[in-house]
Amino acid sequence: MTLEELRKRAQELRAAWKKEKGEVTSPEALEAVRVKFLGRRGQLTQLLSTLKEFPPEVRAEAGRILNSLKQEISRELETQGAQLALETKKARLAAERYDLTLPGRWRPLGHLHPLTQVRLEIEDIFMRMGFDVATGPEVETDYYNFEALNIPEDHPARDEWDSFYIDEERLLRTHTSPVQIRVMKSRRPPVRIICPGRCYRRDTPDATHSPVFHQVELLWVEEGLTMANLKWIVEEFVRRFFGPGYEMRFSADYFPFTEPSAQVHIRRPGGEWLEIMGAGMVDPAVLSEVGYDPEEVTGFAFGLGIERMAMLRWGIEDIRLFYQNDIRFLSQF
Ligand code: PHE
Repeated sequence: MTLEELRKRAQELRAAWKKEKGEVTSPEALEAVRVKFLGRRGQLTQLLSTLKEFPPEVRAEAGRILNSLKQEISRELETQGAQLALETKKARLAAERYDLTLPGRWRPLGHLHPLTQVRLEIEDIFMRMGFDVATGPEVETDYYNFEALNIPEDHPARDEWDSFYIDEERLLRTHTSPVQIRVMKSRRPPVRIICPGRCYRRDTPDATHSPVFHQVELLWVEEGLTMANLKWIVEEFVRRFFGPGYEMRFSADYFPFTEPSAQVHIRRPGGEWLEIMGAGMVDPAVLSEVGYDPEEVTGFAFGLGIERMAMLRWGIEDIRLFYQNDIRFLSQF
């Protein structure tokens, strides 16, 4: 081959390269064209291998011609490769694009049961007033549930608390008052506690009674406490929990473990009076039973129904709704 012929071949190869690369639209196709020209058996590679056949005086010139073509092709391969990679990426991003203006997917969100909400709120109010939260067992002994609360075995007041007995000695507690006894027996006065918890009575279920229900007991024992302190605490609590528009009625009652005793009724605007608690000054016999000196300290207590607080707050007329777990009811709170 003469130098002239080589120049011509190089021209043709260059034209062929330009044409093929002009038709390439993907990185894969570009790679195929690269192999065709620069691969191990590529057209330019093969032409390069003829260099050694040129006589030494023209070989340098022949090499320059082919190498400059090789460099040109390599450069263009690189630019076009980068270009194609960019286009591919742009196309992929466009296809995968998120539409941030689409509305999100709705998931139902649960919340605390209305009775739990009310209990937490009651705890919060009394904790701010300086009361501690105490708890006790739901399976109680006759002693804590009755005896220590000044209700001996044959006392007619036991009829007030129709009980579920487990055996001779043990029963499901009928109120939270046994926690008073447990706490007083384990601490010296002053005592300032509330005891939230579940209680059980053999009551026939109706709109205002349930065999399982919840109470919050309050107990404050210290020197110099009177009925006036009890009344203030109750009024303040009712004011904080219900806010304006609710009426309160304080009237006489009887409990074996308090003397004097009272009951509290609440009426929501336009509603009926509903008893929410029994209360009173802790009976001296109870203070003596736990080893306190009734000459030294006095105290007061109440037992508050959580369900009834919730009924009054939201105008719920049937206590049984709280336990049916009907989502149409629960989702309203
Ligand atoms: N334990 C009483 C009940 O459940 C309520 C009560 C508590 C009354 C504390 C007076 C003092 O009926």
